[in-house]
Amino acid sequence: MNEVEKSWEKRLTGKPVEMTVDFVESLSIDKRLYKYDIVGSIAHAQMLAEKKLITKDEFKQIRDGLIQISEEIAAGRFVFEKKYEDIHMAIEAALIEKIGEAGKKLHTGRSRNDQVATDIRLWMRDEIEIVQAKITLLQKAFVKLAAKHTEDIMPGYTHLQRAQPVSIASYLLSFVERFERDFIRLKNCKTLLNLSPLGSGALAGSTLPLDRSNTKEQLGFSDITYNSIDAVSDRDFCAEFIFDCAMIATHLSGLAEDLILYCSNEFGFLWVDDAYCTSSSMMPQKRNLDVAELIRGKTGSVYGSLMAMLTVLKAQPSGYNRDLQEDKVHIFAAADTIEASLDMACAIISHSRFETREISAGLDEGFLDATALAEYLVGRGIAFRQAHGIVGSLVAECEKQNKKLSELTLDELKRQCAGVEADVYESLGATKVADKYVTEGAAGPKQAKRQIEYWTKQLGQR
Ligand code: ARG
Repeated sequence: MNEVEKSWEKRLTGKPVEMTVDFVESLSIDKRLYKYDIVGSIAHAQMLAEKKLITKDEFKQIRDGLIQISEEIAAGRFVFEKKYEDIHMAIEAALIEKIGEAGKKLHTGRSRNDQVATDIRLWMRDEIEIVQAKITLLQKAFVKLAAKHTEDIMPGYTHLQRAQPVSIASYLLSFVERFERDFIRLKNCKTLLNLSPLGSGALAGSTLPLDRSNTKEQLGFSDITYNSIDAVSDRDFCAEFIFDCAMIATHLSGLAEDLILYCSNEFGFLWVDDAYCTSSSMMPQKRNLDVAELIRGKTGSVYGSLMAMLTVLKAQPSGYNRDLQEDKVHIFAAADTIEASLDMACAIISHSRFETREISAGLDEGFLDATALAEYLVGRGIAFRQAHGIVGSLVAECEKQNKKLSELTLDELKRQCAGVEADVYESLGATKVADKYVTEGAAGPKQAKRQIEYWTKQLGQR
């Protein structure tokens, strides 16, 4: 490409030193915005033509030139030169080089400040849809696996101690709920950001009669921003988007932790296909779930992006400041990491099986039925606090005798609590207990089946 002079070179004496060029350039990062930059520019040029600020013919030249540039970039034929600082200047320079005079009119009534604000919003709208689609795939994988395990019971944990029996399906569906909130958070983020800043100029708008609603309509924004000073500096949505990614990462890290534990010999609950396992360079027997450890580890970089983004925004004076250019590295990093982690989580869930035989073999260890026994006593007219104490004593006795609650004789039970009848045995044993859950949203097979129906319908519409 021949050298296209930057118009500000008339203002400054000489050229910036190499060090400055390297320090201020963002082209290496923001070139991935090229499609959005071009779409935004075509909309802007069309509006300029409709407002007779440029001619129809100039608009056509600009549009066709920009489309060609887009094709060149897509084909890898475009030479990115960092002296143009960012994707906006690189494309404009290429356009001027290609079509001459008409190209010099594209930037009429526009600043890179409202241009970049527009580009990021356009990019983020699409990116949110990509992340949402990946969330949906992961949710569907959970529902599919859950459907195989509604009747299979596993220990539910609190404090990583055996607590109460739950359907394996309910355990899996708990993740569908979490990721649903992430889906909704992203939807809300998109609603807030879907405003057109175009026409805000550098910070004060323009003396030219730009038609802001025209470009807003063309670009599919729901409205325009209503204060030009705010519009060029608002990156709230970037922090919010990264927060949403950070929350997804948090949820994925919890899932990863479970998967790692459940795949261990100590638990032996889960088998993940070899395609997603790695081994050790030294210990020949090893079969590790490094991918889950990496999902957990990558949470750190997403949190880092969030903290970095908030700090970029902190205490900037009003209007646009170049600090804002540092937004892109963080939104891109968060988006890339979360996309990769969601893909990997989805692959693992789609290629795992629960070791139901092993799980049921150990199911009656750990007094998972203790709470249900206390609730049985409540049904016999005993106050819960008292019932809690009675069952506590029974558990202590069982531990001494190395027995399960269901192995206590009716006499032994009656000795602690006279009100116990023979039907107590229907409330003992993990599987029986899970079948007795009656509350809405409980972790039993009945509720799991209803939830699977609900999610199959909901997710099927996406
Ligand atoms: N590359 C810049 C950014 O990402 C574009 C805006 C530059 N504006 C300016 N006045 N220097 O924010």
